[in-house]
Amino acid sequence: MLEMKHVTVETVDIKKPILKDFSLSIQEGEIHAIMGPNGAGKSTLSKVIFKNPNYEIKQGEITLFDQDLKALQTEQIARMGAFLVLQDPPVIEGVSTSDFMREALYEKTKERVNLYSFVKEIEKDCQKLSLKEELLHQSINQGLSGGERKKNELLQLLLLKPKLIVLDELDSGLDVDSLKQVCKVFNDYLKEYPSTSVLIITHYSRILEYIHPDFVHKMVDGKIVQTGTIHLAKEIEKEGYQINEHTKEQSHE
Ligand SMILES: Nc1ncnc2c1ncn2[C@@H]1O[C@H](COP(=O)(O)OP(=O)(O)OP(=O)(O)O)[C@@H](O)[C@H]1O
Ligand SMILES: [Mg+2]
Repeated sequence: MLEMKHVTVETVDIKKPILKDFSLSIQEGEIHAIMGPNGAGKSTLSKVIFKNPNYEIKQGEITLFDQDLKALQTEQIARMGAFLVLQDPPVIEGVSTSDFMREALYEKTKERVNLYSFVKEIEKDCQKLSLKEELLHQSINQGLSGGERKKNELLQLLLLKPKLIVLDELDSGLDVDSLKQVCKVFNDYLKEYPSTSVLIITHYSRILEYIHPDFVHKMVDGKIVQTGTIHLAKEIEKEGYQINEHTKEQSHE
């Protein structure tokens, strides 16, 4: 699904290196979690996968769905079935959520669905997520709280059924009950579509108690310094992100 080999990325404007010799491989149906401190480059990683033009791949190779990422544009990446849940979903004025979602679905299926039955269907998903249905008729994320915006991203995900999902800090903005609820909806989705690949970006291990990863990676200063299972997440929760001697040895191997 996603293969990154020795990737170095810098910002286009000030040429600041952010990802440094970064490697990661995600196969079909795998759930990976990346944990790292503020500024480690986690959101940059997600933006690079979706070809945000502010970042330039200087070295290394990235393949997404067996295609060279360098040759792909964001729009194609979305059409091919990758979906990014943003850390801070923005307001997009003048486009209603329902219009946006219906257009996105059309772009995927090339079939126009009846507006009434479409809205009825999405209303069910709104209920699952405890989202007010009015939001469907408002501009995207207009007047929504941080947590509601995250749920709105989930709503789009449920409709578009992506093959690769990147969750950038899904837990930020969600209260304890909302996090449980969102993770339940997400897990039910994964049960129905088990071949979906997932990359969870997070600071805290709490979300990993609900969505169980196959692999946990510790990311510090632009690169993965350690890979393990859920036990690594628990260790990080206890000890923080300092690179210990053991980790140093591993990263030099
Ligand atoms: N376009 C940019 N121009 C300059 N610096 C940038 C740019 N994008 C990211 N950075 C810097 O790169 C570093 C990594 O940023 P990034 O947002 O990827 O971190 P993060 O791991 O997601 O952090 P957080 O956990 O706080 O969300 C930060 O120091 C950030 O200021
Ligand atoms: Mg971030």
